[in-house]
Amino acid sequence: MLDPISLFKERHGDLRYFFAPMAGISDTVFRLLMRELGAQCVVSELLSAEGLIRGGQRTRDMMHFDERERPVGIQIFGHQISSLAEAAKIVEASGADFVDLNFGCPVKKVVCDGGGAAWLKDPVKLGELLQTVKRGLRIPLTIKVRTGWDENSRNVKEVVHVAAESGVSWVAIHGRTRAQGYCGYADWELIREVAIHSRIPIVGNGDITDSKMARKRIDEGYAHAVMIGRGALKNPWIFREILGEKIESKQFLPLIHRHFDLAVEKKDRHRAFLSLKKFLAWYAAGFPNSGKFRFELFQLEDIDALRDHANNYFESITEMPKIDDGQPFLMGGHG
Ligand SMILES: Cc1cc2nc3c(=O)[nH]c(=O)nc-3n(C[C@H](O)[C@H](O)[C@H](O)COP(=O)(O)O)c2cc1C
Repeated sequence: MLDPISLFKERHGDLRYFFAPMAGISDTVFRLLMRELGAQCVVSELLSAEGLIRGGQRTRDMMHFDERERPVGIQIFGHQISSLAEAAKIVEASGADFVDLNFGCPVKKVVCDGGGAAWLKDPVKLGELLQTVKRGLRIPLTIKVRTGWDENSRNVKEVVHVAAESGVSWVAIHGRTRAQGYCGYADWELIREVAIHSRIPIVGNGDITDSKMARKRIDEGYAHAVMIGRGALKNPWIFREILGEKIESKQFLPLIHRHFDLAVEKKDRHRAFLSLKKFLAWYAAGFPNSGKFRFELFQLEDIDALRDHANNYFESITEMPKIDDGQPFLMGGHG
């Protein structure tokens, strides 16, 4: 019998480039798109353990994934050991490849309840949780953490040790503390120090915006694998570039057509409309007249008008370069 990480490796290969879980973004549609664009592994946005147990339709819908996404993990959050253990079994029964526990969410409502990054404050209780969840699971258990609660308690090394002792398959580390939110920079030196001493793979995460940076983090031993979130929204071809593909032309229009097709296949028209509107605004960022495009976008009321609007705009900018204005981008989230 192989241990979980070897079993995972045997089934899926040596995974290096992960697309990050992002609430409101990493749904089945965008995960599928990212897999098609080279991401080697995807994780769902965080789902409430309590919501899964209650069987709420919306949470169950959010657990949906497509076979083409594999390997795919479902991420859950919560504050109670028994609920997280029960929810992890529901995830396993759904056929997901692994269960990921969220210990990075900095959002007040979540941490005040004792969920997300609040778990980092008590590594002993965290160990109890991990052992309990692990006992009930046959698929791999993974976790995503921050470097600690705040500057004075950067205990990620201890947390990784506890995780390894508890049979966790890998730890994804967003290199900021909970107190930092999304300010400052991810601390990759700390991630490296942890990775060097860890018995289990470390997936480094935070601020990777281009393929060179991603490869460098692995080649220079900062982490076994890297996870990319916001960088993939700005440049959806980032994973293909990492894998060495030369992208001749970063044409948004074919990508947007594929995104529309997947959204319409997977969601009802209204949900597809709401979701696509958001992505189109991001895709347009950095192109000429994107402000006007966005303003008009938010006046539209149905998906056909949205498609026309996107066609008109992106046809007109096919040859124009996208400028990264360096402005802070999506400075809030659940991990
Ligand atoms: C809008 C948004 C939503 C997020 N939601 C989640 C989430 O559901 N679960 C999670 O573990 N991390 C979540 N995160 C954190 C990201 O996974 C990642 O750790 C963070 O953005 C840093 O990586 P990046 O610089 O590559 O984006 C979210 C981040 C953003 C910006």
